[in-house]
Amino acid sequence: MAKITIHTPEEIEAMRRVGSEAADLLDFITPHVKAGVSTLALDELMLDYTVNVLKAKSACLGYNPGGNGIPYPRATCISVNNVICHGIPSEKKILKNGDIVNIDVTIEKDGFFGDNSRMFIIGKPTIAGKRLVDATWGCMWAGIEEVRPGKCFNDIGIACHNFVKPMGLSIVHEYGGHGIGRVFHGEPHVCHVPISTPTAKFEPGMIFTVEPMVNAGKRHIMDLNDGWTVVTKDRSLSAQWELEVVVTETGYDILTVSKGMPEPPTWVKGWKKPSFD
Ligand code: MF3
Ligand code: CO
Ligand code: CO
Repeated sequence: MAKITIHTPEEIEAMRRVGSEAADLLDFITPHVKAGVSTLALDELMLDYTVNVLKAKSACLGYNPGGNGIPYPRATCISVNNVICHGIPSEKKILKNGDIVNIDVTIEKDGFFGDNSRMFIIGKPTIAGKRLVDATWGCMWAGIEEVRPGKCFNDIGIACHNFVKPMGLSIVHEYGGHGIGRVFHGEPHVCHVPISTPTAKFEPGMIFTVEPMVNAGKRHIMDLNDGWTVVTKDRSLSAQWELEVVVTETGYDILTVSKGMPEPPTWVKGWKKPSFD
């Protein structure tokens, strides 16, 4: 098992600051996410806000892990309907009534990374779209609720899997959450399905994302030929939410919190959204 960073209290506070700014960026874009807008226009608004208001950098723009792929060409990922993740903002992609849209933003400031994503439904939700978006929100929280010292990363995958199983939805295997801090993608890789190899135990100071991708149809993925976009193989809808979690002495805390972040499901016991009044 590779080594997982234990963050100091000072580092955790720095991660809370950049995390809340990454969440503010999603609050900022929310009123603009509507029918008729292109995903590139949204991306340009978010890059401007990142640089000029947050005084931060996009961690996605030019991202090229390993150095042998195509550098990511835009500041954010915007994944619509059957796009699972890494949708590249485009002037040709115009949002329309009923679309389900994931906006995933990662910023870097003062040497720390903040990564989170939310779902948006354009105009009048379809029954299938709303059901998937809500189920994926619950799936993420079911995983997060497992986090406390003594439990292990596999407990997240078990809980996510058990949450969606009775609904006939499926969880993507190929992508998962990740450690985050002074690096964008660190150890461990967080699976949202159970795995048979041993996983690390949670320890206070670990910081990672929980970000399940849930498909309405089968779990299988397909890559488009742009080097980034991942779609469902069966063209079914896909949804994803992402938050950052820090392990505490007794449980967990969320680091990507803002006024506009939705309330957790009523059955969540380990965390309460702070008041922003
Ligand atoms: N934000 C994504 C994640 O949750 C990663 C996007 S990498 C990019 O880990 F290059 F596609 F932007
Ligand atoms: Co992300
Ligand atoms: Co992430």
